[in-house]
Amino acid sequence: MEAEKIFVFDTTLRDGEQVPGCQLNTIEKIEVAKALEALGVDIIEAGFPISSPGDFNSVVEISKEIKTPVICGLTRAVKKDIEVAADALKFAQRPRIHTGIGTSYYHINYKLKSNQKEILERAVEAVKYAKKFVEDVEFYAEDAGRTENEYLARVIEAVIKAGATVVNIPDTTGYTLPDEFGNKIKYLKEHVKGIDRAIISTHCHNDLGMATANTMAGVINGARQVEVTMNGIGERAGNTSLEEVAMIIRSRKHLNLYTDINAKRIFKTSRLVSTLMRMPIQPNKAIVGRNAFAHSSGIHQDGVLKNRENYEIIDPKSVGILESSIVLTARSGRAALKHRVEKLGYKLSNEKLEHLYEEFLNLADKKKDVNDEDLHVLIGKEQRGPRSIELKSLQVVCGKSTHPTATVTLNVYGTCYTESAMGNGPVDAAFTAVKKIIKKKVRLEEFLIQAITRGSNDIGKVHVQVFYKGVMYYGFSASTDIITASVEAFVDALAQIE
Ligand code: KIV
Ligand code: ZN
Repeated sequence: MEAEKIFVFDTTLRDGEQVPGCQLNTIEKIEVAKALEALGVDIIEAGFPISSPGDFNSVVEISKEIKTPVICGLTRAVKKDIEVAADALKFAQRPRIHTGIGTSYYHINYKLKSNQKEILERAVEAVKYAKKFVEDVEFYAEDAGRTENEYLARVIEAVIKAGATVVNIPDTTGYTLPDEFGNKIKYLKEHVKGIDRAIISTHCHNDLGMATANTMAGVINGARQVEVTMNGIGERAGNTSLEEVAMIIRSRKHLNLYTDINAKRIFKTSRLVSTLMRMPIQPNKAIVGRNAFAHSSGIHQDGVLKNRENYEIIDPKSVGILESSIVLTARSGRAALKHRVEKLGYKLSNEKLEHLYEEFLNLADKKKDVNDEDLHVLIGKEQRGPRSIELKSLQVVCGKSTHPTATVTLNVYGTCYTESAMGNGPVDAAFTAVKKIIKKKVRLEEFLIQAITRGSNDIGKVHVQVFYKGVMYYGFSASTDIITASVEAFVDALAQIE
């Protein structure tokens, strides 16, 4: 029997981007969308157009730039939402409207204050209305995971009759067990008249750590689209990870399924999303974590050396982790850098390449050998949009028996300001100086330093979370000087408040 295709619906730019404070600007969203297109996703959910002018604009710009995948916009089952989404998608080659409504007892009674009959009617009306604008209409039954199967089947049957091309069964709260979720999909396959006219989609959240298991249970029982995000990012515990599902389908041949994901681009896409969204990747994250392929115990190392497959089920090269034979140094020219950047799968404009080269030389001055991981970080920083606040200079005095003092100069909307402060350490002193300039009551919630490859001359990556007026803002930077990286990450988060 011929292998069946699983459509990959990426929602990094919509559900993934819903992480409070993790918002990207339009330029950054376009970079991510291009990377997703190159990765081979079938559908990009580009945003929720009615939610903000920024989201609307991003959907418009992504629709203009991206040619191959379907571009999708989210709506509630509300006419105005649908009209705005249709407008945002007007330049898309292949537009899709994703509309829906809550179907669980909780949503119907407490969120929508309605009843099952009315919700079913609103669902049908929304699909019919969306069909007036686009052919491809996906319907989501929010909180389907906690919706009784019999009612869910009635809603799904009605929306397919109304013209839905895809029916999304979200486990919105990440509550179900794999066998429950799998059985839900099986139930719909067996009880919904006309189910073969639509593609069943999974959309699982990871609140109990079961998003990937539930997604696969759905696929095994007949779902043919998976809604996923890069690195599994998303609100709360996140969404199903794209890389996990793609590699399960690729590794477990007996499933007789395939996706069009170009696995070799997984690693760099993961790093790009992490850098642009300022979201760290846990070191033990499946497929893309720093330790995902690191063997430290003697028995494992010995086994891998004898035969990689003794302890590795995936060849790291297959997801694009290259054991680089070329390390660049301060003597490497532009051509060598360009060649390596292209080998890693990036296409940069001449202007960006020139700027990258300057950054590369700065790094190579401080760190003898510049490897692929370092380049991923530099390129990620390069692809960010312009910043309203930037660190211009930093001077710290610290050490044993010294009172740590820092002097910071920031460029704020084109004007430079300098302040000094003392603290209980160099980072504390520098952050206090920054706060004196910014004059905002912010609270530092998290401060994480990770070394990229180990060794004292290594780059340190810094992620910070800053809380301001009820919202969390994320910042990221990387440098061989961890104090500079820390202040840059802090300033990066503050720039997002602006
Ligand atoms: O989790 C969810 O139910 C959603 C829908 C809006 C598709 O994100
Ligand atoms: Zn969701």
